[in-house]
Amino acid sequence: MKHLYFALHLLICFGFPSLCTSEDRFVYSGFSGTNLTVDGAARVRPNGLLEVTNGTVNLYGHAFHPAPLHFRRSPNGTVQSFSVFFVFGIISVYRETSVDGMAFLIAPRKNLSGVLANQFLGLLNNNNDGNSSNHIFAVELDTFQNTELKDINDNHVGIDINSVHSIKSQPAGFYDDTSIFRNLSLNSGEAMQIWVDYKEETTQINVTMAPLKMAKPVKPLVSATYNLSQVFMDPAYIGFSSSTGPISTQYIVLGWSFCMGCPAPVINVNKLPKLPHLGRKFPSRVLEIILPIATAALILSVGTSITLFVRRRQRYAELHEDWEEEFRLHRFSYKDLFHATQGFKNEHLLGVGGFGKVYKGVLPTSKLLVAVKKVSHESRQGMKEFITEIVSIGHLRHRNLVRLLGYCRRNYELLLVYDYMPNGSLDKYLYCEEEMPTLGWSQRFHIIKGVACGLLYLHEKWEKVVIHRDIKASNVLLDSEMNGRLGDFGLARLYDHGSDPQTTHVVGTMGYLAPELVRMGKASPLTDVYAFGSFLLEVVCGQKPIKEDAQGNRFMLVNWVLQHWHNGTLVETVDRRLQVEGVLDEVCLVLKLAILCLHPSPTSRPKMQQVIQYLDNEMPLPDLEPTHLSFNELRLMENKGIFSSGMSYPPLTTTSIGTISGLSGGR
Ligand SMILES: Nc1ncnc2c1ncn2[C@@H]1O[C@H](COP(=O)(O)OP(=O)(O)OP(=O)(O)O)[C@@H](O)[C@H]1O
Ligand SMILES: *[C@@H]1O[C@H](CO)[C@@H](O)[C@H](O)[C@H]1NC(C)=O
Ligand SMILES: *[C@@H]1O[C@H](CO)[C@@H](O)[C@H](O)[C@H]1NC(C)=O
Ligand SMILES: *[C@@H]1O[C@H](CO)[C@@H](O)[C@H](O)[C@H]1NC(C)=O
Ligand SMILES: *[C@@H]1O[C@H](CO)[C@@H](O)[C@H](O)[C@H]1NC(C)=O
Ligand SMILES: *[C@@H]1O[C@H](CO)[C@@H](O)[C@H](O)[C@H]1NC(C)=O
Ligand SMILES: *[C@@H]1O[C@H](CO)[C@@H](O)[C@H](O)[C@H]1NC(C)=O
Ligand SMILES: *[C@@H]1O[C@H](CO)[C@@H](O)[C@H](O)[C@H]1NC(C)=O
Ligand SMILES: *[C@@H]1O[C@H](CO)[C@@H](O)[C@H](O)[C@H]1NC(C)=O
Ligand SMILES: [Mg+2]
Repeated sequence: MKHLYFALHLLICFGFPSLCTSEDRFVYSGFSGTNLTVDGAARVRPNGLLEVTNGTVNLYGHAFHPAPLHFRRSPNGTVQSFSVFFVFGIISVYRETSVDGMAFLIAPRKNLSGVLANQFLGLLNNNNDGNSSNHIFAVELDTFQNTELKDINDNHVGIDINSVHSIKSQPAGFYDDTSIFRNLSLNSGEAMQIWVDYKEETTQINVTMAPLKMAKPVKPLVSATYNLSQVFMDPAYIGFSSSTGPISTQYIVLGWSFCMGCPAPVINVNKLPKLPHLGRKFPSRVLEIILPIATAALILSVGTSITLFVRRRQRYAELHEDWEEEFRLHRFSYKDLFHATQGFKNEHLLGVGGFGKVYKGVLPTSKLLVAVKKVSHESRQGMKEFITEIVSIGHLRHRNLVRLLGYCRRNYELLLVYDYMPNGSLDKYLYCEEEMPTLGWSQRFHIIKGVACGLLYLHEKWEKVVIHRDIKASNVLLDSEMNGRLGDFGLARLYDHGSDPQTTHVVGTMGYLAPELVRMGKASPLTDVYAFGSFLLEVVCGQKPIKEDAQGNRFMLVNWVLQHWHNGTLVETVDRRLQVEGVLDEVCLVLKLAILCLHPSPTSRPKMQQVIQYLDNEMPLPDLEPTHLSFNELRLMENKGIFSSGMSYPPLTTTSIGTISGLSGGR
């Protein structure tokens, strides 16, 4: 009969492990479909987890095996040996912080009304705590240190008899094979195993703990001797209790087995329902990975933005001074110019001159084509005068001046914004390679007249005299109608101030510098006329004002022209690419006018007003013989003066500023 019962029991256990219960032995492999008695915040989840308390704070809950158990064989007998095994998990919203704890419980009844949550773990209340009439035995898994209860720490396992003051407790953990203690964190969010064993003979209570999937350690975690025969009522109920405090914590039982008088049945832990990883483990591990990355990314992005911001500020930083207020309307923002030229891209470079680079650009709002000249300039000296002058001239419109639209200042940099001249500078046509079509005489003559008008305007037509200081073919730009327009007016002034000839740096371009300018360093409208003379020769002869012969000797173009004039071969000086038939008079007029303008004595040079009259044939050129100009004087000048020792020419290919200092002292 007994054998039959055992066989039947085995069959039930085998077929329905989660329902395998008998009066003194049961296995809960998950709690789905079981008939636990639950109260408070306890419930069985659909997936089979027993939630003794759900996440709600300051609650308690109980879950009991429904049937009463007889721990005594007879009403006056002693409490038999028993063995309990369960798998639990504690899941808190905060990592490794939870309140208050849970307990395995043996109580005289399932109706535990009047108990308290929090530190009382849903077992007792402050009136009955410690009263032997409670008949309560519990193994507490306490995750909060209540000093009034003399808790050893916030992560301990204790044996409780009628009180939440444990008779014995130990920090959670286990002893490994070599009896070395290993910590475990009750609220790590991991499922863990607990064994509770009682031996009738020795009245010894052993509580053993281990991580999941680990065999029961030999050495128990907590061991106490207490005669439970003096505690248990008969019958008694066994179950779980737990309570939450102010932190949302779930106390969960995954599986549970019990045996009276035999070791607790083994549960296949792999078949247990899985702990949720929502509130804890999963996010925390994800956070462990993501948080540092996110933090790093954040720091990086903040750093990058700050750097970019600072860079931006630096990139677009400008220099403003109080006196500039009146030129506000002529001021461009660096940012606009930066964008107009696509960051001063090399593709947009129009050319490089003595003062800096010139870029082509499109103004962002007006879509106007502009040429932006970047002038590097270290000192602020003379800047006010310069800007005052060029801005006031620049905003005047004259068909033979390149309009200056405005400027922008930065540290060490001045940016000048001009109308873009689609046909570029005249020098490109004069000294171009064979492929490029050169300009015919009528075009050249038209340009010469235009430049003369522009220069006259600067010298005489405006309220004050403006000296161009750098007339030459590369500063004559051609608009869409091939009108010659003077550009770069006054720019040389920026580099040319101070009246002491000893320290004056003459600025201009070699071959265009009047002798008195070199000697005295004093620019005047007549030094412009001299340069204009050089320019005329440039246009007619198609050659630079300083020639170089086959032997590498350099000499003035004007002297070569004079020589030819003297020899009666003036026509030979004309650019070979020009067709001069029928216009020879005009060509010769220009050549002679050029020579007149190049007169070493400033007072002998014509004024621009007269130059225009000569060009327009309104007035005949003064009858000059080639000897009229002191040829020798020029020679002398050439030998001892401008081109004498201590002065080197700039390479002929570059038309750059000739800076000659202290020449007057050299004589
Ligand atoms: N407004 C403009 N429109 C179109 N091209 C221009 C304009 N200004 C200048 N350029 C081009 O840029 C080149 C460089 O001009 P830049 O004035 O800097 O040098 P430069 O005239 O040769 O010498 P300098 O510095 O003595 O004036 C010119 O040769 C011309 O081709
Ligand atoms: C937890 O249980 C209590 C009591 O049954 C209930 O009021 C509360 O809504 C539950 N909380 C959750 C999150 O299920
Ligand atoms: C569940 O247990 C209660 C007693 O706690 C009992 O009345 C009920 O019949 C049981 N139900 C099942 C399905 O076992
Ligand atoms: C059990 O003990 C009680 C007193 O503690 C006594 O009255 C009762 O007769 C005893 N019963 C048995 C069966 O021994
Ligand atoms: C539980 O016990 C209390 C008294 O302690 C009683 O009032 C209550 O009705 C009982 N509840 C159940 C369900 O038995
Ligand atoms: C213990 O509880 C019982 C009944 O609840 C009560 O009569 C007794 O006074 C309590 N003892 C102490 C020490 O509180
Ligand atoms: C174990 O716990 C003790 C005290 O709680 C602590 O000092 C020790 O660092 C912990 N060891 C490990 C490995 O967690
Ligand atoms: C408790 O553990 C000790 C040490 O391993 C062992 O000797 C004893 O038999 C155990 N007692 C019970 C009730 O398991
Ligand atoms: C435990 O207590 C009971 C009486 O309450 C006694 O009969 C029994 O001998 C005790 N067991 C041990 C091992 O002392
Ligand atoms: Mg120029």
